[in-house]
This record gives sequence, structure tokens and C-alpha cells, in this order.
Amino acid sequence: MKILNTPYSVIYFGEDSYIKKKNLFLKNVSKKILLVDNISKKNCLNYFLSKIDFLKKYYIINLPSGEENKNIETCKVIWKKLLDINADRKSLFFNLGGGVITDLGGFACSVFKRGLNFINIPTTLLGMIDASIGGKTAINFLSLKNEIGLFNFPKGVIIDNNFLKTLSENDLKSGFAEIIKYGLISDINLWKKIKNLILKKKKLIYSYNLIRNAIKIKNSIIEKDPLEKGLRKILNFGHTIGHAIESYFIYNLNKKISHGHSLAIGMICESWISYKMKMITKKEFEEINMIISLLYDNIKIYNSHISKIIDFMKHDKKNENNKIKFSLLKKIGYSIFNKEVDLFLIKKSFKKTNMINLINFNKF
Ligand code: GLY
Repeated sequence: MKILNTPYSVIYFGEDSYIKKKNLFLKNVSKKILLVDNISKKNCLNYFLSKIDFLKKYYIINLPSGEENKNIETCKVIWKKLLDINADRKSLFFNLGGGVITDLGGFACSVFKRGLNFINIPTTLLGMIDASIGGKTAINFLSLKNEIGLFNFPKGVIIDNNFLKTLSENDLKSGFAEIIKYGLISDINLWKKIKNLILKKKKLIYSYNLIRNAIKIKNSIIEKDPLEKGLRKILNFGHTIGHAIESYFIYNLNKKISHGHSLAIGMICESWISYKMKMITKKEFEEINMIISLLYDNIKIYNSHISKIIDFMKHDKKNENNKIKFSLLKKIGYSIFNKEVDLFLIKKSFKKTNMINLINFNKF
């Protein structure tokens, strides 16, 4: 077992992470609550319980899966159950699932009786390298992603890549977009490795090394700026446009597009903006555009809907004084934050990625 000790959480790697009771902060715990959704219940719960057989008595809360359930109504279900079982401040939460479960479970238990401790056991690649690490907990509100939430760090995180076997290629690709992001914002060698993998059409291998590398990059940023006052905003590269596209698809077209897929498109658009703002070179932009679009499918967007997508960006949490603020690339492997971008440039960036087909309404 490898351990990464951070100032806020202990991160364990490997299936032997569960072995020692003391690792799991079980001392002086009153009630143990296990939060799952339909998917993690079906694919991961038995394995988890077999590894953690010393848990003995625990309560289980099973939620419907999906981003659309990451809301206050689902939180009420959790709070009601916690009241029913008389959970107190010494209760411990285990969030077993993808980003929805760790974000939502983290939020619900952080505000219940002003805060219960929790442990995240992410079961998706996206959860392992991003959502479960770094203390962001949240729910969606009125069509806005992660609009209500707080920073509160899990006591521990268990990274067990056996769970990756339960995922589809699309789920893995969704998580991989965040790994691409880490390379682009702060590690040119990681970007080169990714580029080679994609160009050689090698099967993407999600080894502990790759995952640990990504987590270390994220942690090094969070240690400097846990509450996203400045530097941490670089982790949002690609997300200003990516989140807006994701929300637009769910709320305006009633279609799901994965977080990683939207992020992939967001990264290309924001790289083009970086190029136009004279930060990266044309060659760098073209390389990013070519590599990312080899891995992800094209999407269709109504030309006339671009303003709706921009409306979603107006609610981005990085904005200040009603100005849309971006995290952009200064060069591959180095990024900056709080950059204001002209609306015209944002709109034009949609035409510059290989991945968006802009079409007129009547041709859709
Ligand atoms: N997902 C970006 C962050 O944790 O700051």
C-alpha cells in the first residue's frame, strides 16, 4: 500500500488500503453510514464489503444514480435517514461511488449537525483523479452545476483501481480528459506521454502511476491554495466552456454529454483563446486540437444557441464583478488564471475546434 499524506486528507493507494482498521478512522466512531447509488451498489458494493469485512454493523443509503439527482431533494433523503438512525457527530460516512456520490455525500454530511467526518472511495477514474480529492463538496441548483456547496476535506480517500474494471470505455475516456488537463496546465512531460499514447492508438492504461501522478499534481496545487482564492483556479482550465456545454446539453437539449467529453471540447476552445491572446503558439494550439479530437467524438450545437451556452458561463464560480474569468494556457505545461476574455473571442472559439459542428436550427 502506498500512502500520500496531505495536510487535509490521507490518500491510500491499492486494494490493501482497507486492511488496517486504524487507517479508516474508525476509532471512536458511533455509526457507520455507507452511501451508494444504483450503479456503485450493483458493481462495487460486494467487493467493497468483502474488503472491509471488519465494518460489522453499518447503515446503507442507496440513491438513484446520475447528475440530475445531485440536488437538494436527494440531500433531504440522506438527512431524513440520518435523523431516523439517530446519527450523531461521531458518525462516519463512507461515500462509495463516482463524482456525484462523493460531491453530494460530502456536502450532505458536512452540513448535517454542522459536520460529520467522511471517507471517499471513488469508483470512477474521474472521481479518483479529481472529484474525491481536494475538499470540494456540492450539489446542483436551478440548472447550475455545483452552485451550492462548501470546502470540506474527507479524512481519507481510498484509490483502488480494481473499480476501474467496472467502467465502460466512455466512462474511462471521461476521466482521461482530466488527466489531459493536468498535463496541459502543469506538466509538459505528462502531455508528451498522453500525446504518444493517443497517436500510437495504444490502449489507454490507467495505471496507479498515471493516477498517482495526476493526484500529486492536483494536491500540489491544493496545498498552496486550498480554498481557490487564486492558484487553484488553474484546475478549471477548459471548464468555463466545458461546464457550460455540459449544462446546455442537459438542460436545453435534455441530452447527456459526459463531463470529460465537454471538458475535452472546453480545453480546445480555451486553448484557441489562449493562442488568440498571444499566450500559446499556433503550433501548440493545433497540436492540442488535433490530439484531443482524435480521442473524443464531435458534437452538434445549434448556431443560434451559442448565447445560451454563454449565459451558463455567466454563473461560473471564478467570475468576478460580472466578468467571465478564464484559466488559460501560457504555454503547454503552464497556466494562468483570472483572465478576462472578450465575448467575441469566446463565441469565435466554438468555430475553431475540430469537435463542434455548428449547424442551423432547421438542419438539426
Ligand atoms: N475540480 C477542480 C478543483 O477541484 O478545484
